[in-house]
Amino acid sequence: MRTSFACREFTSEPVSDEEVVALLELARFAPSGGNRQGWRVIVVPDQATKDALVELSLPALRLYLAQRDAGENPWNTIEPSAIDPSTIDHSDSSGLGWFRILAQAPVLLVIGVDLRVVASADSKLDRIGVVSGGSVYPFVQNLLLAARGHGLAGALTTFLAAAEPEAQALLGLPPEVAVAAMVPLGHPNQDITRLSRRPVSTFARLERWDGPAIG
Ligand SMILES: Cc1cc2nc3c(=O)[nH]c(=O)nc-3n(C[C@H](O)[C@H](O)[C@H](O)COP(=O)(O)O)c2cc1C
Repeated sequence: MRTSFACREFTSEPVSDEEVVALLELARFAPSGGNRQGWRVIVVPDQATKDALVELSLPALRLYLAQRDAGENPWNTIEPSAIDPSTIDHSDSSGLGWFRILAQAPVLLVIGVDLRVVASADSKLDRIGVVSGGSVYPFVQNLLLAARGHGLAGALTTFLAAAEPEAQALLGLPPEVAVAAMVPLGHPNQDITRLSRRPVSTFARLERWDGPAIG
């Protein structure tokens, strides 16, 4: 957990089907609401499909960058955004390279979740849902931890989700399978072992929100 960084650049060493299956064998022990195990995985080694998946992700990335550069919290639903997506300059491809490079990963894994089996305990609240993702993202994190344990690496990315209809069409996913993540997988071309995270005392409190910080 302390060293599983978001890896986006890989060596040219291939990843075998057996290695992918070994990781999925471990990842499947993730928790899910009601143990319904709604995760679905498409393993993509084909270069043309990898290129297409990365291209589909770019509009969401452009909006992310525009909002970030304007000092906003990108893709946030609480604070209204001052950025009009139609005004984003699509001719400017600078700053996209760090993401475009994902197409060079030996494999891309698209992680979907079958919404027919997801328990969404917060679905009646008047706010954006967060519980549904809990039935698929532990699986993705398990996958990344398993990769780390096997000398591989990857990153949880979600820009593709913004282009879900196109991704579903590209991969033949049925409409009930939502796109949760796209994970590049390969042998890392560097090893980062000092991740930057806030200390426990900044997010944990005793008994109540206004209780004393712990840790
Ligand atoms: C829900 C979620 C969505 C993310 N989406 C993206 C994404 O679309 N593209 C990307 O490159 N990284 C994405 N990330 C990776 C984060 O940028 C990364 O986890 C964070 O910067 C920490 O990186 P580190 O572990 O290397 O310190 C996402 C991570 C999470 C948990």
